[in-house]
Amino acid sequence: MGKTIIVTGGAGFIGANFVYLELREHPEDRIVCVDKLTYAGNLETLAEALQNPQFRFVKADICDREAMFALFREEQPDMVVNFAAESHVDRSIEDPGIFLQTNIIGTQVLMDASREVGVERYHQVSTDEVYGDLPLDRPDLFFTEETPLKTSSPYSSSKAGADLLVNAYHRTYGLPTTISRCSNNYGPYQFPEKLIPLMIANALEDKPLPVYGEGKNVRDWLYVEDHCKAIDLILRQGKVGEVYNIGGHNEMHNIDIVRLICQALGKSEDLIVHVTDRKGHDMRYAIDPAKMQRELGWQPETLFRDGIQKTIQWYLTHQDWWQRILSGDYQRYYEEMYAKRIAEGTK
Ligand code: NAD
Ligand code: DAU
Repeated sequence: MGKTIIVTGGAGFIGANFVYLELREHPEDRIVCVDKLTYAGNLETLAEALQNPQFRFVKADICDREAMFALFREEQPDMVVNFAAESHVDRSIEDPGIFLQTNIIGTQVLMDASREVGVERYHQVSTDEVYGDLPLDRPDLFFTEETPLKTSSPYSSSKAGADLLVNAYHRTYGLPTTISRCSNNYGPYQFPEKLIPLMIANALEDKPLPVYGEGKNVRDWLYVEDHCKAIDLILRQGKVGEVYNIGGHNEMHNIDIVRLICQALGKSEDLIVHVTDRKGHDMRYAIDPAKMQRELGWQPETLFRDGIQKTIQWYLTHQDWWQRILSGDYQRYYEEMYAKRIAEGTK
């Protein structure tokens, strides 16, 4: 018999890609998407899913205890996958409060509701940022599931807080939990405040490409569909109580990504401007995904050179999707965030 899966944050980047993967790969299951539709949530992204009778959308805040308990009682979910979060590091540095609220309290509310109805799995979507960063001159070091949590930003601290709470609910109440910690994702539907879509959108409009500091920071990039497939495997075959690291060994310096985007779009690298660095900027992230490969047989399927071309092509053919975002609230945020940085130059 099909399962009912509550997917939170499904109107955002990774959540939406996950919703589409589930509807495609498990047509017998029902997906109930809960999303508050913050600035980062876009119902337009789910337009196709909304046509599917196996899909239900509920606009609600995961911190709203009453609404979550009512929904869980009504739907009696078999599984819960929590993507809902405030996800942008720069915003967390400007205003940490909402990050603690959504990312920690929201997780608590979802787990309390999960306990009440007795789900078979609560899955927490976490991040490699909970491990802090690695030095640039130690390419031999990687994050394993045993690496201690050591966070840098209010965002990563809120995600680490949630992870600790998930482990506590497993140990104290026996909630059947799993946690995944993934590296940087890229692909369709990513909000154009994050590095790759921001650079594509700006380059297409011949706007400056703001690289923080020297651009030497390293991120470990994974195509979003590979992340979603890994979560699907963990959900169905992963061991309760476990943490799984997800990544594809694809480390790149920020500046090289920006240069690559310029080249792919036939734009001059003169558009690149080095701006004030992010406060507390993590140097390098690098995931060791050996456990996912060994225990669940997962491997990333998309090579970066193919994934980035697909992604650039997607942003080229979906200009109305990101143009609408850029013309709204996001525009005001963008101006506040960058006007000062560009004026200051590199520091
Ligand atoms: P996103 O910002 O694109 O989407 C977040 C979604 O959550 C939005 O649809 C938003 O409306 C919704 N949301 C926010 N607050 C909510 C609330 N209180 N109640 C209900 N819905 C709410 O984020 P993303 O990049 O898709 O990330 C999804 C998850 O994956 C996050 O938990 C993030 O920490 C994690 N993650 C992201 C990456 C990455 O590279 N983007 C990598 C690893 C892990
Ligand atoms: O590692 C996983 C994390 O990846 C997720 O948990 C986060 O939700 C997600 O936002 C992402 O965090 P990052 O901070 O790594 O991603 P972001 O796209 O904001 O930045 C990537 C790198 O690019 C980082 O070193 C900062 C830099 N950067 C970013 C922006 C937006 C720039 O140089 N210029 C920019 O304008």
